[in-house]
Amino acid sequence: MPLETNLKRQRILVTAASQGIGMAVAKAFLEEGSRVVINSSNKERLDKAAAQLSKKGEIHAVVADLSTKVGIEEIVSKSLDLLGGIDTLAYVTGSPARGTVMEKSYDDWDSAAKLLTTSPAYLGRKVAEAMISRKTKGRMIFSASFAIKEPVATLALSNVCRVAIFGLVRTLARELGPYGIRVNGIMPGYIKTARVDAISSDIMRRKGVSEKEALDEISSQVPLGYIGTTEELAKSFLFLGSDLSPYVSGAMLPVDGGLLRSIG
Ligand SMILES: NC(=O)c1ccc[n+]([C@@H]2O[C@H](COP(=O)([O-])OP(=O)(O)OC[C@H]3O[C@@H](n4cnc5c(N)ncnc54)[C@H](OP(=O)(O)O)[C@@H]3O)[C@@H](O)[C@H]2O)c1
Repeated sequence: MPLETNLKRQRILVTAASQGIGMAVAKAFLEEGSRVVINSSNKERLDKAAAQLSKKGEIHAVVADLSTKVGIEEIVSKSLDLLGGIDTLAYVTGSPARGTVMEKSYDDWDSAAKLLTTSPAYLGRKVAEAMISRKTKGRMIFSASFAIKEPVATLALSNVCRVAIFGLVRTLARELGPYGIRVNGIMPGYIKTARVDAISSDIMRRKGVSEKEALDEISSQVPLGYIGTTEELAKSFLFLGSDLSPYVSGAMLPVDGGLLRSIG
């Protein structure tokens, strides 16, 4: 029997989706026949993404800043108005600035915590309220980074603030399990987007190497030998956001070509 995602007409909210990982996740759900809301903080970029994705199916755009309370509340209320409910939340977020602990100010930590720690927790709560009140046996997927298992030099804000996603996934999985809501996380490795382009530019600058040498340096850390694509990563969102994973909850799935080496 062929595997069925059963994602036709499912109502999906994908945050931080005007480009990169979020946009690829939205496209993957659209290709399965889902109805999708995408969000980002920049109207021009989000409208452009929505126009591109509209060839694939029903897509709506909600401009709001994920790092604010009012932005999160707007994302959820507008998504509910547009879709009539939310079956799957695919949480992606923006990237904090690079740098070491010694370079970061109090305000840097404060804004990174809002974007990377407070936003998934509060968004998770607001989406859970909507799912519970509508008796939706939904799914939540929180995307973090492999850096929560193996901190990356010069990504201090990400290394520290994203660890909270692990705690959130385990905590929400317990709180929401009795309602039939599954909560999981994804830890992407190196995925070819503007974010990886910025990391390779940083290596080029620091080491005086070519772009190819910088990208080779990143790829050489990956057992599968290459930087992953957003399409490959998006398939894991389909798995966790569909009937393909009915008994998976509280899991943190690395999607990294084998990059993480530690046990536990
Ligand atoms: N690519 C990788 O290898 C990799 C690996 C591990 C983890 N990650 C993480 O995964 C996330 C997505 O990565 P990416 O490579 O797709 O990054 P990207 O290409 O830089 O895209 C980031 C997205 O976040 C949106 N965004 C930024 N701030 C926002 C805010 N305050 N509210 C709403 N949306 C916001 C941006 O849209 P607007 O500018 O339009 O708001 C954009 O759509 C990032 O957090 C990144 O650090 C990436």
